[in-house]
Amino acid sequence: MRVAYCQGTSPPRINTTPHISFHPLLPMAWSPFLLLSLVSLAFSTPLNRRWDDFVEKHSWGATIPKGWQFHSSPSPDTLIDLRLGLKSARIDELFHHLGQTSDPDHERYGNHLSKEQVEELVAPHTDTVSMVEEWLAHHGYQGSAASPAGDWVTIRLPVKDAERMLNAEYGLYHHPASKDTVLRTLSYSLPRDLLGHVDVVSPTTYFGTFKSMRATSFLMPEVDLDPDAVPPTTCNTRITPDCLKTLYNTANYTQQATNRNSLGVAGYLNEFANRADLQTFLTRFVPARAGTTFTTVRVNGGGDDQNDPGVEANLDIQYTIGLSAPVPNTYYSTGGSPPFKPDSQTSTNTNEPYLDWLNFITSQSSIPLVFTTSYGDDEQTVPPDYANSVCNLFAQLGSRGSSVLFSSGDFGVGGGDCRTNDGQNRVQFQPAFPASCPFVTTVGGTTRTNPEVAVDFSGGGFSNYFGRPDYQSTAVTTFLNALGTTNNGLFNKTGRAYPDLAAQGTGFQVIIGGSTSSVGGTSASSPTVAGIIALLNDVRLSSGRSSLGFLNPLIYKNGGAFNDITSGSNPGCGTNGFTARTGWDPVTGLGTPDFAKLRLVV
Ligand SMILES: *[C@@H]1O[C@H](CO)[C@@H](O)[C@H](O)[C@H]1NC(C)=O
Ligand SMILES: *[C@@H]1O[C@H](CO)[C@@H](O)[C@H](O)[C@H]1NC(C)=O
Repeated sequence: MRVAYCQGTSPPRINTTPHISFHPLLPMAWSPFLLLSLVSLAFSTPLNRRWDDFVEKHSWGATIPKGWQFHSSPSPDTLIDLRLGLKSARIDELFHHLGQTSDPDHERYGNHLSKEQVEELVAPHTDTVSMVEEWLAHHGYQGSAASPAGDWVTIRLPVKDAERMLNAEYGLYHHPASKDTVLRTLSYSLPRDLLGHVDVVSPTTYFGTFKSMRATSFLMPEVDLDPDAVPPTTCNTRITPDCLKTLYNTANYTQQATNRNSLGVAGYLNEFANRADLQTFLTRFVPARAGTTFTTVRVNGGGDDQNDPGVEANLDIQYTIGLSAPVPNTYYSTGGSPPFKPDSQTSTNTNEPYLDWLNFITSQSSIPLVFTTSYGDDEQTVPPDYANSVCNLFAQLGSRGSSVLFSSGDFGVGGGDCRTNDGQNRVQFQPAFPASCPFVTTVGGTTRTNPEVAVDFSGGGFSNYFGRPDYQSTAVTTFLNALGTTNNGLFNKTGRAYPDLAAQGTGFQVIIGGSTSSVGGTSASSPTVAGIIALLNDVRLSSGRSSLGFLNPLIYKNGGAFNDITSGSNPGCGTNGFTARTGWDPVTGLGTPDFAKLRLVV
């Protein structure tokens, strides 16, 4: 069978739920009829009526998400691949394990779960499986597993049936800025009986997609390089791996566990990491590591065009390798949907890259020990049910012993007019997602050296979806007490606060198409931290211990191992934003990593 959302891998092996089985989809021409006839024997009419008792799952009201325009109604026979996220029966146990294995004071610290153990906890209850099966069968369909544990299921079906099953109305929506066109609905519902069993259905109401996810990097004016200048003086204006190694104290570290170590970069938006540029970069900036290479893994039709180097991709891979070589690095190139053809009878990709990548990566038996991702959306544009499901998938990666890093965003406390999309149109700081997910480690930006200060675009704030996790409660409470009434009403004091830490975010010297550009953004900060975390993993692995895994409980207990950043601010939404201060703050988190101190506490 072909797994629709990924390419180049064997289909997941199935050993779990008996009914939502993992066989290929039956040919559309006859499967509905066959199933319908079987079903009509099994269920009587009164029972079936319950599938018509709908409860709204998520709705944008009558308001089309900002930046999008209604284009047209799809042909009713247009095929789509619906993905259902089924409720995991024991997800609370997964969180419980994660809480213990990531807490440095707990005896189970570092006892990460295996892939199989995670799958046991995220598998849906058999009641959930049979309920969902019954519902699908009632409509003449049969699901096909999209994850080894069976917690994600796909069904290929015509739009008209999806609309009937979800009480939805799909439309083609166009996003002029990105020229993207997607098939979405402004609201969807589920039968009441399914509410406790299905967490999310996609594609439905998540509009922020592939092209509109912003890569948080931007080119800065090129500067003349003086090859004889020595860091850190030049590091005030241009960052090289040597600058970062000096600033963050990794310079003298010799790796010993390279064969067990690994680092992954998640890439989207047709961003390709260029091999020739990496060699030019290494030769110029890290000559001792010249010749180091990386693996590209293509997910869901992601490309690898070596004639089209991406700024983001090159920045990420040059700096993760620049700091962590010879740790094996992998670049994941995740594709989006092919251009959507409104009248086509062929199916359209679900076009939701986080899910594509996450369903792919969670099905792999061996995954990198640290991931960095430099993409994000405004949290309010991500439906809460979708955000929650994606965030739980990041928790799975943490449970397996991987550290998951995200850039905090490049718009301070919020870009644009910062109006809420809840109909009230209030000005409010705009947290970013996945930066706001409590199971990821979010990286803000700094600039200059001696002293290092917050860079003004460093994304930071408080989630409106996720409550404040315990690991940061002391740090954030201390900040809020010091803040007083500043920015009152503009942010959610009970929310998960970010960033967790920070690193340099301006003037990164990156080779793109053979020449040097200066690139900035928290896009640069996240791969920097990923490289340093890989070295910390080496410290642990080389003494026979496990990888660090989910970092936040550890780092909040060791704030002293960071260079506290105490000046600078992150203005936005027509305000001065927040100001960096002693201790944690929503501009630079705990500060920038000091490897020499961190290696003593991991
Ligand atoms: C690294 O080694 C050099 C030369 O031996 C030394 O001058 C420097 O202080 C060391 N740096 C750290 C952070 O230990
Ligand atoms: C504030 O955050 C909490 C989660 O901590 C959430 O439940 C609540 O709805 C948020 N308030 C607003 C106004 O978004």
